[in-house]
Formats: sequence, structure tokens, C-alpha cells
Amino acid sequence: MKIKNSTFVISAVSPSQYPEDQLPEIAMAGRSNVGKSSLINMLINRKNLARTSSTPGKTQTINFYDIDEKFRFVDLPGYGYARVSKESKKAWGKIIETYLGGRENLLEVILLVDSRHKPTEQDKQMYKWIKEYGFSGIVIATKLDKLKNSQIKKSLNTIKKELEMGDDEILMAISSSNRKGKYEVWELLNNIFEVNELDIHFERQSKK
Ligand code: GTP
Ligand code: MG
Repeated sequence: MKIKNSTFVISAVSPSQYPEDQLPEIAMAGRSNVGKSSLINMLINRKNLARTSSTPGKTQTINFYDIDEKFRFVDLPGYGYARVSKESKKAWGKIIETYLGGRENLLEVILLVDSRHKPTEQDKQMYKWIKEYGFSGIVIATKLDKLKNSQIKKSLNTIKKELEMGDDEILMAISSSNRKGKYEVWELLNNIFEVNELDIHFERQSKK
């Protein structure tokens, strides 16, 4: 099955605004500007369905994207933007907590971290949170194109170590700029569907 139709469903802050039907959901979490929206766009071959911006901290809502009426990608609001007020930070916490803690059709929350940087305290906190809520603890390192080949291994090891990832926890590296890792991420998603006994399987979406 190839993706035919991806659509934006809704921007939500509270459960009453979430889509009502119980389609499975896969959410992307991570600090602002890490590349959550860009990853979703890469995966569905769309330039700008998930809105990307060079102004970090702008998106403070949960954005739902329908993929062929089979499942949804969920773009979570980013954290860690310094110029955000205390009130917004509190609001962010509540929005995330309500969604992660209460959404029954949420299959996995994937944490995105920047492949160039040591994970921040907030990344560590988010990762703990994801696992406390019972998700597998999958991490995707973004912006791989910005690293030299010689730096990749070391950077990934730092991420693993700082997040205290176990051997059975998956770390993948991707670039939404040159589309590296796209196929591997789709394999990972197919695997998540399979583990959850869902009859959803997407083919490799393009040559790269
Ligand atoms: P928020 O919505 O603010 O939480 O950010 P986000 O995590 O959705 O990040 P977004 O996808 O908007 O990307 C932020 C910036 O990083 C944009 O300018 C993207 O073009 C750029 N970017 C994202 N992924 C990559 C990548 O793999 N490589 C490079 N070089 N730039 C990237
Ligand atoms: Mg975004």
C-alpha cells in the first residue's frame, strides 16, 4: 500500500478537540525546531503539509494528520524555547500530559533529538515521561546531513548515553533534507503496526 492521501485534520489543545474516531496515532515529540514537522512531511512526501517554521516555539497546539484514513501522525508542540513565558510552559505541560496520559489510540510517541547536540535536560525529562506512560522509547536523531560522517557514531553514542537508553531501545538517525533514513523509519512504523496487530503496511515510498 502506498500513501495516496494525507490531510491535515485539526489543531487541538484539549481532548474535546481531538478527532473523535479511534484511528491509531503515532506522535512526534521533541524540542522546538528539532524537525518534527519536517520529518512528517518527508515521510508522506509532502513539502509543507505539516507546517514548518524558522520561528521556534510558535506551534503550541497538537496537530493531527490523517494518512489514507488508516492512521494519524500527531505533531506535538515543541518545548525548550527560551523566550516562551512561564504560563506557556505550564500550558504546554498540561497539553502534553493530557494527550499522552489519556489517548487510548496512541500507539507510540517517538522522541526526536538533534543529532548534533547533547540531549538537553528537557529531552531527558521528555524521554522519561514517554517511558513512564508505557511507550517503547524510540528515538530519532534529526539533521544528520549537518554531521560529518566521522562524527555520526560518536554523536549517536552520546545521545544513547545521555538518555540512558537500553539495548532494546531503538535509536535511528535521519535527515529530512536529503531524505536519509526515510525507508528505515517506514520499516519501523510498519513494525509498530504489526506489533499492535493492525493490518496496516506501507511500501517503500520512493527510491531514496
Ligand atoms: P516546532 O514546530 O517549532 O516545534 O519545530 P519542529 O520540530 O516542527 O521543526 P521544523 O520541522 O519546523 O524544522 C525547524 C527547522 O529545521 C526548519 O528550518 C527546517 O527546514 C530545518 N530542518 C528540519 N529537519 C532538517 C534536517 O534534517 N536537516 C536540515 N539541514 N534542516 C532541517
Ligand atoms: Mg513543527
